[in-house]
Amino acid sequence: MSGATTIVVVETQIAPRPRTGASRYADTWVFLDGELVRYHEAYLPPMTHALHYGTGCFEGIRAYWNASQNQLYLLQAEAHYARLRRSAAILRLEVPYSNEQLTRTTLEILKRNEARTDTYIRPLVFISAEEVGVRLHGLPTSFLIYTAPLGEYIATEGGIRCMTSSWRRVSDSAIPARAKITGSYVNSALAKSEAQENGFDEAIMLAHDGHVSEGSAENLFMVRDGVFVTPSVTEDILEGITRSLLMGLIRDELGLDVVERSMDRTELYGCDELFLCGTGAQVSPVVELDRRKIGSGVVGPLTKRLQEIYFRAVRGEEPRYRHWVTPVYG
Ligand SMILES: Cc1ncc(COP(=O)(O)O)c(C=O)c1O
Repeated sequence: MSGATTIVVVETQIAPRPRTGASRYADTWVFLDGELVRYHEAYLPPMTHALHYGTGCFEGIRAYWNASQNQLYLLQAEAHYARLRRSAAILRLEVPYSNEQLTRTTLEILKRNEARTDTYIRPLVFISAEEVGVRLHGLPTSFLIYTAPLGEYIATEGGIRCMTSSWRRVSDSAIPARAKITGSYVNSALAKSEAQENGFDEAIMLAHDGHVSEGSAENLFMVRDGVFVTPSVTEDILEGITRSLLMGLIRDELGLDVVERSMDRTELYGCDELFLCGTGAQVSPVVELDRRKIGSGVVGPLTKRLQEIYFRAVRGEEPRYRHWVTPVYG
């Protein structure tokens, strides 16, 4: 029969793949289902439900290294674990540890990994069933935490160039953006790749009704006539922890107002300053959107002041904001 493909099955002795040394994280410590194990020992079965269906929730936490104090500061861990619990409740996943236990475990992993640089912490609760079939209820979950060094996620100096994505942000009636669901990051990845492959640094996404939502992994603020404006929590955003810390700084340190409301895309074109924020992004000034300069096309003065206070606070250098951070050592 012409065109037929012959499949030759070759019988081989399958040797276990050596894992030690296969990854630069191989010897780091991770937390998996109640135990601290080496990264290369943290086996996840190929059938793991979450790998196939995106059925998990995660967090991104930062710890900041302060060289002059020889100290690592964990930022807002309890707030992140509280949000993880809310995300998990939406997906009906159980988090079998208290926020306090998870914070203590995070401190322990950072110590064991001897983290002495800016570090990212990734907790993940996910459906671990080895089962075909898409659903949320009645399936076992696993809980994982890893840590990895992380510098800037996007630039914080000089300003970034953004485009409005052709991809709309996932809607609360489809995949709730307020829950940090692994599967919904495909929406972010589509937007981010589109932006980068078109020569921009980051994407700004609109909600299904055309109002401004957020960046691919960041919340957004604009400044207009001395007032900060950010999309309200019903605009299909992740309710960012950085967003809420910055709202406090804007009011208490800059003495300015913050308004949460729906925003039109073209308001951004005419604003004085624009920035993205998030655990990864920190405070990242936007100097151009859709090939239009924001303000005078350089980092705005209010964004700069906010950045300075934020960066001091997260490194444990602002006594007023020491309650934001937990020291890892000593
Ligand atoms: C889609 C999205 N929006 C906003 C943020 C910012 O949230 P947070 O400040 O809590 O990190 C993130 C994550 O960092 C995100 O993934």
